[in-house]
Amino acid sequence: MEQSQLVTLLNEMSLEEKIGQMLQVTGMFFEEEGIVTGPENIAGYTEDEIRQAGSMLGTVGAERLKKIQKEYMEKQPHHIPLIFMSDIINGFRTIFPIPLAQGCSFHPELVEEGAAIAAKESAAAGLHLTFSPMADLVRDARWGRVMESTGEDPFLNGCLAKAMVKGYQGTDGLKAKGKIAACIKHFAGYGAPTAGRDYHTVELSQRTLQDDYLPAYKEAVDAGAAMVMTSFNTLDRIPSSGNRKLMREILRKEMGFNGVVISDWAAIEELVCHGVAKDQKEAAKLALEAGVDIDMMTSCYCKSLKELVEAGAVSELLIDEAVLRILNLKNELGLFENPYKDGDVSDENALILCREHREAARRMAAETFVLLKNDKMLPLAKKEKVAFIGPYVLSRETYGAWSMFGTCEATVSLEDGVRKKGALEIFTAKGCDLPEDIRETGAREELLQEAVALAGKADKVVLALGEHRMWSGEAASRGEITLPDCQMELFRQVQAVNPNVAVVLYCGRPLDIREISEKSAAVLVVWMPGTEGGNAVADVLYGDTNPSGKLSMSFPYCVGQAPVFYGQLCTGRPFQEGSQEKYVSRYIDIPNKPLYPFGYGLSYTEFTVSPVELSGKQMSKGEQIKASVMVKNTGTRKGQEVVQMYLGDVCGSVARPRRELKGFRKVCLEPGEEREVCFEIREEMLRFHDINMDYVSETGEFKVWIGNSSDTENEAAFLLIE
Ligand code: GLC
Repeated sequence: MEQSQLVTLLNEMSLEEKIGQMLQVTGMFFEEEGIVTGPENIAGYTEDEIRQAGSMLGTVGAERLKKIQKEYMEKQPHHIPLIFMSDIINGFRTIFPIPLAQGCSFHPELVEEGAAIAAKESAAAGLHLTFSPMADLVRDARWGRVMESTGEDPFLNGCLAKAMVKGYQGTDGLKAKGKIAACIKHFAGYGAPTAGRDYHTVELSQRTLQDDYLPAYKEAVDAGAAMVMTSFNTLDRIPSSGNRKLMREILRKEMGFNGVVISDWAAIEELVCHGVAKDQKEAAKLALEAGVDIDMMTSCYCKSLKELVEAGAVSELLIDEAVLRILNLKNELGLFENPYKDGDVSDENALILCREHREAARRMAAETFVLLKNDKMLPLAKKEKVAFIGPYVLSRETYGAWSMFGTCEATVSLEDGVRKKGALEIFTAKGCDLPEDIRETGAREELLQEAVALAGKADKVVLALGEHRMWSGEAASRGEITLPDCQMELFRQVQAVNPNVAVVLYCGRPLDIREISEKSAAVLVVWMPGTEGGNAVADVLYGDTNPSGKLSMSFPYCVGQAPVFYGQLCTGRPFQEGSQEKYVSRYIDIPNKPLYPFGYGLSYTEFTVSPVELSGKQMSKGEQIKASVMVKNTGTRKGQEVVQMYLGDVCGSVARPRRELKGFRKVCLEPGEEREVCFEIREEMLRFHDINMDYVSETGEFKVWIGNSSDTENEAAFLLIE
């Protein structure tokens, strides 16, 4: 449809019909007879309100969605199609690693490929839009939703959010076959809840919000994401879904976003709980004025907006602008011409979990694993007698909490993967249970003793331990970030009879693994690796794939350090490691440094990085400096290294992070191979919000570090001059 035709359509629509477009409900309201009169209808929708709803979430399947769309459009006064949306966070039916793991790949092309496969599968299943990428910056491991983010660094998150948008949407328009619209979430700052407790208050300065938390959303907006979702939290004590400054000033005016804004689930009605709206009607007014176009799963809009317009409390023009954005999105998706888009049962059956997609998931998973420690323990040799012990040896629940359409049946367990390697002698034992309910993690003596006996007879032990997949994700914050006592007991008893233990760690967040790190011979973090996890872990354990992952989020020494991240400010009393000074910024009982920092990860080979070479010692604002190093594979295996460049502003009009990631290159080197890795330092990399909140760079001294972790000391200095 032409734009003019959309406006004509808008003008033909009644006020009720327009308001209907601003409601989103789950598919159960379109499928189950009588649901409107049933107890699930807590919002009290009427038949007519459901009939007018403009979009639907959470239901998939080409046949099901075709049926819903056909029946819906027949009743819809202007035959306007529904948009079908869902949470495709890390894959549709072929499940990829959780985004926090994908961040460890430092491989945007791989992340883009994963998103493109998720789009292909879900589009064939009739979906039009995904509530992804989650571009929230995360620095507190207590928060369960860190698993949905790509980590603690604004630059890395921006690169990967852009890659996901490109993978989902493509570059030829949303009508393109096998593509779905992307929705950036949760705008904004949801990843910084006080005390790491989900849905809690967020207290960020404007400058920290602008310099650290907004950049990744901005990258996704610039990449053309079609929709933005509001966040549950308050910013400066104003809930996002009623925050006009955040939505109309920052998102739309400053960032230039002109797509659809959808509330998070019930977030408009929650303005009443936040205490900024006395009732649903006031909540509807606040949200509409803030520029929220779609009300997800409450009846604030559908039951209040008409009355508010008729009472002159809100202008119908605000409704028109919202509805026109919604109609635009449907038009960009081509739904007026083809309301079923790519929904097709034969495509769905051919694409879902196909070999090509499984291979891509296996390849990506292996690149997300982070080898934290390896005392000549890995890789395993096939002639070795290895005992595989732990609840994750047999488990197929190795996909993240937001893998809504993943299944155990489709998932490869660690045992499946390892047995296919054809090793001479491997044994398996569960060792302990891992129930979904975090409170029920008691030990069972017979499981424990069976495992210990096995460990005593093996050359080496692989202990597959970790969190249950539902101990992270939404509403899954943890005050303690340790493994269950029964797993630690298993670890201690196994390690006591056989010190050759490699721990394979399944988790949705960084955990407190002090004891495991100290006593194990090797530690491999595999996060929640998805459908092909078992094969990917076996590939790495037996050396068919050399691990190359780098932490996307710091592993704290213990939960007391949270939030901990590499880019902290210096403070007026910086603590120097090893110093005995008392009156400095430090703890008296734990170290300041995390157990393992952002950007850290080992390989089965070794790399050296030469001192930093600069093309010049100073640059003016129109110039740039080339920074380069020679990277050499000094080991015996081919491997990939992530070379990272950090910049640090020595002195600014406001306190500046000690260092900030501004570039990375993932290079693959044969044994003995050496390669120059170059970065351009440009003035725009040095910009920040200065004392006046202007986004500028300031002249003065800067440091540059280039290495294979955020704590690299390989540094040089340069000046920025007028
Ligand atoms: C949830 C989540 C959001 C998700 C939405 C729809 O509450 O906060 O990330 O996209 O509801 O499922």
